[in-house]
Amino acid sequence: MRFKGKVVLITGGATGIGRAAALAFAREGAAVVIGDTSELAAETVRLIEREAGRALFQPADVASPEQVDSLVESAVKRFGGLNAAFNNAGILPSTQPLHEVRASDFDRVLAVNLRGVFNAMHAEIAYMLDHGGGAIVNTASVAGVVADPGMSPYVASKHGVVGLTKAAAIEYGRRGIRINAIAPGLVRTPMTERWLADPGFRQSFFAAGPFAPSPLGRAAEPEEMAGTVLHLCSDAATFTIGQIAVVDGGQTVR
Ligand SMILES: NC(=O)c1ccc[n+]([C@@H]2O[C@H](COP(=O)([O-])OP(=O)(O)OC[C@H]3O[C@@H](n4cnc5c(N)ncnc54)[C@H](O)[C@@H]3O)[C@@H](O)[C@H]2O)c1
Repeated sequence: MRFKGKVVLITGGATGIGRAAALAFAREGAAVVIGDTSELAAETVRLIEREAGRALFQPADVASPEQVDSLVESAVKRFGGLNAAFNNAGILPSTQPLHEVRASDFDRVLAVNLRGVFNAMHAEIAYMLDHGGGAIVNTASVAGVVADPGMSPYVASKHGVVGLTKAAAIEYGRRGIRINAIAPGLVRTPMTERWLADPGFRQSFFAAGPFAPSPLGRAAEPEEMAGTVLHLCSDAATFTIGQIAVVDGGQTVR
């Protein structure tokens, strides 16, 4: 019960990694506030309440600063504060070479994946500075550390999250706010189900042998991300700031 009495805000908690983290935080005692554009977040709340946890879903688009500000206000109003945040909402556009990407699509990916993290930190840090500090984890990606072909808007957005995380971490470390990121590899979620359903993709990505892209030969389950997120938000990580925890089954090791 590392988070007993704590309040955690999670964006993108309707499905996938965000839902797994929401359930894990709640199991360790946290009250969880979920901001998401998807009504499936109500199901995450139901799953938490079924285990006698406390959670609230408020519809919010992370690209909107007002809607994200309102999430922090709701966390304080409903549960009495804000101790940690997992800024995880994101979108993955279809794979395309850069010269075919529409500028409006590029802007939307940046608005959700990068500006969304900025909006969330803007609101969370403003509150935490005056209320005893806190811990923040942003969701980057292995695409924030290395590049994948056909994914230039996504790669740019996630490299941006890595930079934003480092910049914010050194600004606020002395003021009691620890900021880190996770960089997941391939995780089995609604975001990646179209890839994982493709036999050609599975065959090339999970192939055996010394040069296989995936040393473990499988995708992660969302729950395999939650442990690192909770650790980074916990008192076991008080000297860890500005780190990008790559949780990718060795995908970027070689
Ligand atoms: N699945 C992977 O392999 C993988 C790998 C690396 C990074 N990631 C990142 O992990 C994060 C979570 O993705 P996931 O894999 O769990 O996929 P997912 O699609 O299950 O989760 C994304 C969540 O973000 C929400 N969301 C999307 N746009 C939003 C917006 N504008 N405002 C608020 N919420 C919004 C969705 O409704 C959903 O709940 C994303 O940032 C993604 O880029 C995923």
